Amino acid sequence: VPLDTLIFDPAACGFPRPRIPLLPTGLDGITLRKAGRWAPAGHFRHFARGRYALREAYRLAGIGPGGALLAPAYHCRTMLDPALALGGDVLLYPLRPDLTPDLAALEALAENSPVPVRALLATHFFGIPRPFEALAAWCARRGITLVEDCSHAFVTEQHRPTGIGMHGQFVVSSPYKFLPGPDGGLLYARDTAQIADIHPAAPALKDELRGIAHMRSKAAEQRRGRAACDPARIDAEFAAIMQTPAPSARDMRESAGCSADYRPTEEGRSALRTSRWLYRHADIERVARRRRENYRRWAAATMNLPYCRPLFPELPAGCIPYMFPLLIDQPETRFQWLKHMGLPIWRWDSIAASNCPTALDYRLRLLHLPCHQSLDDRELEWMIAVIGKASAGTTQSSS
Ligand SMILES: Cc1ncc(COP(=O)(O)O)c(C=O)c1O
Repeated sequence: VPLDTLIFDPAACGFPRPRIPLLPTGLDGITLRKAGRWAPAGHFRHFARGRYALREAYRLAGIGPGGALLAPAYHCRTMLDPALALGGDVLLYPLRPDLTPDLAALEALAENSPVPVRALLATHFFGIPRPFEALAAWCARRGITLVEDCSHAFVTEQHRPTGIGMHGQFVVSSPYKFLPGPDGGLLYARDTAQIADIHPAAPALKDELRGIAHMRSKAAEQRRGRAACDPARIDAEFAAIMQTPAPSARDMRESAGCSADYRPTEEGRSALRTSRWLYRHADIERVARRRRENYRRWAAATMNLPYCRPLFPELPAGCIPYMFPLLIDQPETRFQWLKHMGLPIWRWDSIAASNCPTALDYRLRLLHLPCHQSLDDRELEWMIAVIGKASAGTTQSSS
């Protein structure tokens, strides 16, 4: 089943680099204390990124020619890439506005699939734990492997947040999204026998050194960027951006395979030793507390703005958020302004096409904003002030 991809190409826009890193930097969130594991070592394998851990989970589940993956219609393309790289089919299942799967639609998709469905990817978007009991029971009834996507949750060998990683036969996470490591993708298998023969290749020494250099340059970049986050200059900078007509991005639909972010040469490579050392020394309490505080500040600051609203205004107890998801109106103009200001934003604007209304709506309207532990007060205040400034030109809110 060929997939079309909706591609948002901002090359012509000339956006500057974000003034603040989207992921943590320095050694914030690291302690000299070493924490114990939540499961014996035989359950875990380490890869360069979550996408390569997903590849192993998909492969073991039987994804390949003649075996399909059910994946969420709103996604990062790296969630689908490994299935496409294995030569499997991808069927996109619709999500409700709160990003939970629509079980009735899943049933229909599996029933009508021209090829047997072998695996289902279920995602805890933004780190919000989702109850996947019913989904796990449905998968078990149909002989489908449940792969629990904890890429947005703080899952390491040492830590698993409440309500996360409970149901998947495989659990996959991306520790580099929570801690300042240069790489890292974790695969947990409930049944150790399934991964007994998987031995990711140790990285070369030059890759370790490159990883350490990368960490140092990211930390230096954040220190330099702090000086550019001057709230007193926002008005003038914004006025200049709004007055200058900017070239538009190209928004197109094409039949694309794997994204450029999936590198077959990285398959089967282990995470760097540096990353693994850092992940064993996570200051879990600090990471959790700082991220929750920052998320709450974002939510309070954006709740009453006329052009946007937090997708999840409340954080469930114990949840350690990955990013702060914010829905905006009139993204055609506002996204451009915010990007030209150097606001750090991720957005899944290039996704495989489906008829899921949530995915189509969120593709351009949902911004992912950083709430990580390395942000300081000045950076957070600057970002909040910039978001507030984009209220300019608000007429009638349609959200
Ligand atoms: C929800 C989700 N799952 C999986 C992945 C793949 O993880 P990684 O970036 O570690 O390869 C991503 C990528 O950002 C993601 O956002």
